[in-house]
Amino acid sequence: MAFSGLFLILFLTQHMTINLLSVVDSLRLNIFGAEESNLFNQAAYFMGNNPVVQFALQPVLIAGFMLHMLMAFVLQAKNAAARPDGYQYGNKARAYNWASMNMLITGGVVIGFLGLHFYDFWIPEITAKYVTGKAHIGDSPATEAILADVNRFYPELVHRMKYPWRVAIYCVSFVLLGLHLNHGFQSSFQTTGVSQGKYVAGIKKASIAFAVIVPLMFIVVALVHFFIS
Ligand code: HEM
Repeated sequence: MAFSGLFLILFLTQHMTINLLSVVDSLRLNIFGAEESNLFNQAAYFMGNNPVVQFALQPVLIAGFMLHMLMAFVLQAKNAAARPDGYQYGNKARAYNWASMNMLITGGVVIGFLGLHFYDFWIPEITAKYVTGKAHIGDSPATEAILADVNRFYPELVHRMKYPWRVAIYCVSFVLLGLHLNHGFQSSFQTTGVSQGKYVAGIKKASIAFAVIVPLMFIVVALVHFFIS
Protein backbone atom coordinates (compact mmCIF):
# COMPACT_ATOMS: atom_id res chain seq x y z
CA MET A 1 0.00 0.00 0.00
CA ALA A 2 2.78 2.41 0.98
CA PHE A 3 4.99 1.79 -2.06
CA SER A 4 2.10 2.04 -4.50
CA GLY A 5 1.04 5.25 -2.71
CA LEU A 6 4.53 6.75 -3.05
CA PHE A 7 4.56 5.78 -6.72
CA LEU A 8 1.18 7.53 -7.22
CA ILE A 9 2.60 10.61 -5.45
CA LEU A 10 5.37 10.70 -8.08
CA PHE A 11 2.78 10.32 -10.84
CA LEU A 12 0.68 13.18 -9.43
CA THR A 13 3.75 15.44 -9.26
CA GLN A 14 4.58 14.91 -12.94
CA HIS A 15 0.90 15.20 -13.95
CA MET A 16 0.59 18.50 -12.08
CA THR A 17 3.81 19.81 -13.69
CA ILE A 18 2.61 19.01 -17.22
CA ASN A 19 -0.84 20.50 -16.49
CA LEU A 20 0.78 23.69 -15.21
CA LEU A 21 2.37 24.08 -18.67
CA SER A 22 -1.18 24.54 -19.97
CA VAL A 23 -1.61 27.40 -17.47
CA VAL A 24 1.59 29.02 -18.76
CA ASP A 25 0.25 28.63 -22.32
CA SER A 26 -3.08 30.17 -21.34
CA LEU A 27 -1.47 33.18 -19.65
CA ARG A 28 0.89 33.73 -22.56
CA LEU A 29 -1.91 33.50 -25.13
CA ASN A 30 -4.67 35.35 -23.30
CA ILE A 31 -2.88 37.83 -21.03
CA PHE A 32 0.50 38.50 -22.67
CA GLY A 33 -0.74 38.36 -26.29
CA ALA A 34 1.58 35.61 -27.58
CA GLU A 35 0.63 34.36 -31.06
CA GLU A 36 1.25 30.77 -30.10
CA SER A 37 2.35 28.81 -27.05
CA ASN A 38 2.57 25.06 -27.31
CA LEU A 39 4.28 23.92 -24.11
CA PHE A 40 1.37 21.72 -23.05
CA ASN A 41 0.86 20.39 -26.59
CA GLN A 42 4.50 19.35 -26.80
CA ALA A 43 4.48 17.65 -23.40
CA ALA A 44 1.14 15.90 -24.05
CA TYR A 45 2.30 14.75 -27.50
CA PHE A 46 5.50 13.34 -26.00
CA MET A 47 3.63 11.52 -23.21
CA GLY A 48 1.08 10.14 -25.66
CA ASN A 49 3.55 8.95 -28.29
CA ASN A 50 6.73 7.92 -26.51
CA PRO A 51 6.79 4.09 -26.54
CA VAL A 52 8.43 3.89 -23.09
CA VAL A 53 5.68 6.07 -21.56
CA GLN A 54 2.88 4.33 -23.47
CA PHE A 55 3.88 0.69 -23.23
CA ALA A 56 6.03 0.54 -20.08
CA LEU A 57 5.08 3.38 -17.69
CA GLN A 58 1.34 3.49 -18.47
CA PRO A 59 0.74 -0.22 -17.66
CA VAL A 60 2.83 0.21 -14.48
CA LEU A 61 0.66 3.21 -13.53
CA ILE A 62 -2.56 1.26 -14.09
CA ALA A 63 -1.16 -1.66 -12.08
CA GLY A 64 -0.08 0.77 -9.32
CA PHE A 65 -3.61 2.21 -9.08
CA MET A 66 -5.19 -1.25 -9.03
CA LEU A 67 -2.77 -2.50 -6.36
CA HIS A 68 -3.38 0.59 -4.22
CA MET A 69 -7.17 0.13 -4.35
CA LEU A 70 -6.98 -3.61 -3.77
CA MET A 71 -4.66 -3.23 -0.78
CA ALA A 72 -7.00 -0.59 0.72
CA PHE A 73 -9.79 -3.15 0.91
CA VAL A 74 -7.47 -5.96 2.06
CA LEU A 75 -6.09 -3.80 4.91
CA GLN A 76 -9.56 -2.60 5.87
CA ALA A 77 -10.80 -6.20 6.02
CA LYS A 78 -7.78 -7.27 8.11
CA ASN A 79 -8.25 -4.35 10.52
CA ALA A 80 -11.95 -5.14 10.91
CA ALA A 81 -11.17 -8.83 11.53
CA ALA A 82 -8.48 -7.98 14.10
CA ARG A 83 -10.79 -5.66 16.08
CA PRO A 84 -14.42 -6.72 15.49
CA ASP A 85 -15.78 -4.52 18.32
CA GLY A 86 -14.25 -1.32 16.96
CA TYR A 87 -12.28 1.25 18.95
CA GLN A 88 -13.52 2.83 22.16
CA TYR A 89 -12.85 6.55 22.16
CA GLY A 90 -12.30 8.26 25.51
CA ASN A 91 -11.94 11.68 23.99
CA LYS A 92 -13.49 11.54 20.57
CA ALA A 93 -12.26 14.96 19.50
CA ARG A 94 -8.63 13.94 20.06
CA ALA A 95 -8.71 10.35 18.93
CA TYR A 96 -10.85 10.84 15.89
CA ASN A 97 -8.86 12.08 12.93
CA TRP A 98 -11.30 12.63 10.09
CA ALA A 99 -8.76 12.21 7.33
CA SER A 100 -7.10 9.08 8.67
CA MET A 101 -10.39 7.37 9.57
CA ASN A 102 -11.90 8.19 6.23
CA MET A 103 -9.22 7.23 3.75
CA LEU A 104 -11.72 4.89 2.14
CA ILE A 105 -14.25 7.70 1.70
CA THR A 106 -11.77 10.25 0.33
CA GLY A 107 -10.17 7.51 -1.81
CA GLY A 108 -13.63 6.55 -3.07
CA VAL A 109 -14.28 10.15 -4.15
CA VAL A 110 -10.94 10.17 -6.00
CA ILE A 111 -11.94 6.92 -7.77
CA GLY A 112 -15.28 8.53 -8.71
CA PHE A 113 -13.39 11.56 -10.03
CA LEU A 114 -11.10 9.26 -12.04
CA GLY A 115 -14.17 7.67 -13.66
CA LEU A 116 -15.25 11.08 -14.99
CA HIS A 117 -11.65 12.04 -15.77
CA PHE A 118 -11.05 8.91 -17.85
CA TYR A 119 -14.35 9.49 -19.66
CA ASP A 120 -13.16 13.05 -20.40
CA PHE A 121 -9.61 12.41 -21.58
CA TRP A 122 -8.14 8.95 -21.41
CA ILE A 123 -10.87 6.83 -23.06
CA PRO A 124 -11.36 9.24 -26.04
CA GLU A 125 -7.58 9.37 -26.52
CA ILE A 126 -7.06 5.60 -26.41
CA THR A 127 -10.11 5.08 -28.67
CA ALA A 128 -8.84 7.66 -31.17
CA LYS A 129 -5.27 6.33 -31.23
CA TYR A 130 -5.84 2.59 -31.14
CA VAL A 131 -9.43 1.98 -32.34
CA THR A 132 -10.93 4.55 -34.73
CA GLY A 133 -7.82 6.39 -35.95
CA LYS A 134 -9.79 9.65 -35.70
CA ALA A 135 -9.83 12.36 -33.00
CA HIS A 136 -11.96 15.43 -32.38
CA ILE A 137 -11.52 18.77 -30.65
CA GLY A 138 -14.57 19.96 -28.71
CA ASP A 139 -17.79 19.21 -30.59
CA SER A 140 -16.16 18.94 -34.04
CA PRO A 141 -16.53 15.65 -35.96
CA ALA A 142 -13.66 13.22 -35.44
CA THR A 143 -11.15 13.13 -38.30
CA GLU A 144 -7.77 11.57 -39.11
CA ALA A 145 -6.34 15.06 -39.69
CA ILE A 146 -7.16 16.11 -36.10
CA LEU A 147 -5.53 12.93 -34.76
CA ALA A 148 -2.36 13.84 -36.67
CA ASP A 149 -2.41 17.44 -35.34
CA VAL A 150 0.33 17.70 -32.69
CA ASN A 151 -1.37 20.81 -31.27
CA ARG A 152 -4.79 19.28 -30.61
CA PHE A 153 -4.31 18.61 -26.85
CA TYR A 154 -4.53 22.17 -25.49
CA PRO A 155 -7.80 23.15 -27.26
CA GLU A 156 -9.43 19.89 -26.16
CA LEU A 157 -8.35 20.48 -22.54
CA VAL A 158 -9.74 24.04 -22.65
CA HIS A 159 -13.01 22.80 -24.18
CA ARG A 160 -13.53 20.30 -21.34
CA MET A 161 -12.88 22.94 -18.68
CA LYS A 162 -15.60 25.26 -20.00
CA TYR A 163 -18.42 23.35 -18.30
CA PRO A 164 -19.21 24.72 -14.80
CA TRP A 165 -20.54 21.38 -13.49
CA ARG A 166 -17.34 19.61 -14.51
CA VAL A 167 -15.08 22.26 -13.02
CA ALA A 168 -17.12 22.11 -9.79
CA ILE A 169 -16.85 18.30 -9.57
CA TYR A 170 -13.12 18.47 -10.33
CA CYS A 171 -12.43 21.14 -7.71
CA VAL A 172 -14.42 19.44 -4.93
CA SER A 173 -12.63 16.17 -5.76
CA PHE A 174 -9.25 17.92 -5.52
CA VAL A 175 -10.07 19.14 -1.99
CA LEU A 176 -10.84 15.54 -0.94
CA LEU A 177 -7.71 14.38 -2.78
CA GLY A 178 -5.80 16.81 -0.53
CA LEU A 179 -7.24 15.18 2.61
CA HIS A 180 -6.38 11.75 1.23
CA LEU A 181 -2.82 12.85 0.39
CA ASN A 182 -2.20 14.49 3.74
CA HIS A 183 -2.74 11.27 5.64
CA GLY A 184 -1.40 8.98 2.88
CA PHE A 185 1.88 10.85 2.44
CA GLN A 186 2.85 10.66 6.13
CA SER A 187 1.55 7.16 6.49
CA SER A 188 3.57 5.79 3.56
CA PHE A 189 6.81 7.25 4.96
CA GLN A 190 5.96 5.73 8.34
CA THR A 191 5.25 2.30 6.87
CA THR A 192 8.46 2.29 4.82
CA GLY A 193 10.42 3.24 7.95
CA VAL A 194 11.71 6.58 6.63
CA SER A 195 9.67 8.65 9.09
CA GLN A 196 11.61 8.08 12.32
CA GLY A 197 13.21 10.25 14.99
CA LYS A 198 14.48 13.54 13.65
CA TYR A 199 12.69 13.09 10.29
CA VAL A 200 9.15 12.83 11.72
CA ALA A 201 8.50 16.58 12.04
CA GLY A 202 9.97 17.35 8.60
CA ILE A 203 7.95 14.63 6.88
CA LYS A 204 4.79 15.89 8.58
CA LYS A 205 5.43 19.41 7.24
CA ALA A 206 6.29 18.07 3.76
CA SER A 207 3.10 16.03 3.84
CA ILE A 208 0.94 19.06 4.63
CA ALA A 209 2.76 21.12 1.97
CA PHE A 210 2.28 18.42 -0.68
CA ALA A 211 -1.37 17.86 0.26
CA VAL A 212 -2.10 21.59 -0.05
CA ILE A 213 0.08 22.59 -3.02
CA VAL A 214 -0.68 19.74 -5.44
CA PRO A 215 -4.52 19.85 -5.21
CA LEU A 216 -4.38 23.66 -5.20
CA MET A 217 -2.36 23.63 -8.43
CA PHE A 218 -4.92 21.26 -10.01
CA ILE A 219 -7.67 23.69 -8.93
CA VAL A 220 -5.68 26.55 -10.50
CA VAL A 221 -5.46 24.58 -13.77
CA ALA A 222 -9.22 24.00 -13.86
CA LEU A 223 -10.11 27.61 -12.91
CA VAL A 224 -7.61 29.26 -15.28
CA HIS A 225 -9.07 27.37 -18.22
CA PHE A 226 -12.63 28.04 -17.07
CA PHE A 227 -12.19 31.78 -16.56
CA ILE A 228 -9.27 32.84 -18.79
CA SER A 229 -8.51 30.44 -21.66
C1 HEM B 1 -7.47 20.03 -13.57
C2 HEM B 1 -6.84 18.91 -13.29
C3 HEM B 1 -6.50 17.86 -14.31
C4 HEM B 1 -6.46 17.96 -15.69
C5 HEM B 1 -6.78 19.16 -16.56
C6 HEM B 1 -6.02 16.68 -16.19
C7 HEM B 1 -5.84 16.38 -17.54
C8 HEM B 1 -5.45 15.16 -18.04
C9 HEM B 1 -5.15 14.89 -19.41
C10 HEM B 1 -5.20 15.91 -20.55
C11 HEM B 1 -4.80 13.59 -19.50
C12 HEM B 1 -4.26 12.88 -20.76
C13 HEM B 1 -5.14 11.83 -21.33
C14 HEM B 1 -4.37 11.18 -22.48
O1 HEM B 1 -4.07 11.88 -23.42
O2 HEM B 1 -4.08 9.97 -22.38
C15 HEM B 1 -4.89 13.02 -18.18
C16 HEM B 1 -4.63 11.70 -17.87
C17 HEM B 1 -4.72 11.17 -16.59
N1 HEM B 1 -5.02 11.84 -15.43
FE1 HEM B 1 -5.43 13.80 -15.29
N2 HEM B 1 -5.85 15.82 -15.13
C18 HEM B 1 -6.13 16.49 -13.96
C19 HEM B 1 -6.06 15.99 -12.67
C20 HEM B 1 -5.82 14.67 -12.36
C21 HEM B 1 -5.77 14.13 -11.01
C22 HEM B 1 -5.97 14.94 -9.74
C23 HEM B 1 -5.52 12.79 -11.12
C24 HEM B 1 -5.37 11.73 -10.05
C25 HEM B 1 -5.98 11.76 -8.90
C26 HEM B 1 -5.41 12.49 -12.53
C27 HEM B 1 -5.18 11.24 -13.05
C28 HEM B 1 -4.97 10.94 -14.39
C29 HEM B 1 -4.64 9.63 -14.90
C30 HEM B 1 -4.48 8.36 -14.06
C31 HEM B 1 -4.48 9.77 -16.27
C32 HEM B 1 -4.13 8.67 -17.28
C33 HEM B 1 -2.63 8.69 -17.46
C34 HEM B 1 -2.25 7.84 -18.63
O3 HEM B 1 -2.31 8.33 -19.77
O4 HEM B 1 -1.89 6.72 -18.41
N3 HEM B 1 -5.59 13.65 -13.24
N4 HEM B 1 -5.28 14.00 -17.30
